[in-house]
Amino acid sequence: MQFCISWQTPKPELFLAPALFNYTNKELLSSMITRDIQLTAQALWEGEVVAIPTETVYGLAACINNESAIHKIFEIKNRPLTNPLIVHTDSIGSVEKLVTWFPPMARKLAEHCWPGPLTMVLPRSNRVSSLVTSGSANVAIRIPKHPVALQLLKKVEIPLAAPSANPFGSVSPTSASHVNNYFGKQLKYVLDGGPCEEGIESTIVGFDNTNVIVYRLGSVSFESLKELVPDVKLKNYDHSNQTRMPGMHLKHYATGTPFIVTDSIKQQLDLMNYAKVGLLLFSHTIDHPSVKHVEILSRNGNMKEAASNLYAAMHRLDQSGVDIIIAEALPENGPGLAINDRLRRASL
Ligand code: TXA
Ligand code: MG
Repeated sequence: MQFCISWQTPKPELFLAPALFNYTNKELLSSMITRDIQLTAQALWEGEVVAIPTETVYGLAACINNESAIHKIFEIKNRPLTNPLIVHTDSIGSVEKLVTWFPPMARKLAEHCWPGPLTMVLPRSNRVSSLVTSGSANVAIRIPKHPVALQLLKKVEIPLAAPSANPFGSVSPTSASHVNNYFGKQLKYVLDGGPCEEGIESTIVGFDNTNVIVYRLGSVSFESLKELVPDVKLKNYDHSNQTRMPGMHLKHYATGTPFIVTDSIKQQLDLMNYAKVGLLLFSHTIDHPSVKHVEILSRNGNMKEAASNLYAAMHRLDQSGVDIIIAEALPENGPGLAINDRLRRASL
């Protein structure tokens, strides 16, 4: 499969993210933010964990054939070993080697959505270790659309396991400096590919014979999947721990600051008695004496733009020193479904 890669590899010079210049002594505590794909590939071959850009969020990547590097991902993220990792690769040919079954429905979705933010859960071949899949017979796979990620995958020639590059349960990173703020020098390199265009994670689907089931809503909307696969079903989040799928943890994407989501910001503000409130709003602002920081996701009311801005806005609100963040629920359609899912899980 041919990919159109328009990204020009910049000169292999290294640079520090602008955010670091605010913290003189922090430089020593920082990972190296780089645009050098060769350097990053070298580190991966040597068994390092590095952060990589994708079109959804940044990932913490390691080669799938290096078990100690895969272990490091779980350690750095403080993620339970029972929560499996998504494998990233650069061609359908490579996906075929990693699975033992690639049903016609999966092929159809692959042809329409890859490279892109759709992850498919399929039976793993013996090229994928059970450490990556947390013991499951299935592996979650996607071909990302980010040109830097694709160039890196092509260079490394080994698929990369990569969960989102945030400590377990916290807000996902959509810029190299978000990753650096989380992990500092725990990572040798953060490969900078600029801000993530989609801004929320991939949509995850699985297959039950001929049925397609959505395990996680994400950057491919439910409506666009339905156009391709009319019978697609949304898996209900199960509130009992025993039967919940890995990754369907309810509390997730959470800020350190208390966070609530509401359909009526005005009513919520009138009900509460906080001195410093942060607002996460869709398209219009609201005046209120206790509001100290406001983030507007899309002034034009465009939900794709809102998704792309969501996590950066949550990071800024979290660092703004407010006592509570109140988020406005978006309309329940298109990208609004996935955004509301993240807002609700941040608020639990
Ligand atoms: O957009 C994304 O998907 C990003 C970028 C980096 O690709 N990755 C990401 O990874 O969001 P992570 O680990 O934060 O979320 C992946 C979810 C987890 O909840 C995990 O439990 C689930 O996918 N998952 C991974 N492998 C699975 C498997 N074999 N079966 C079922 N669920 C799986
Ligand atoms: Mg994650």
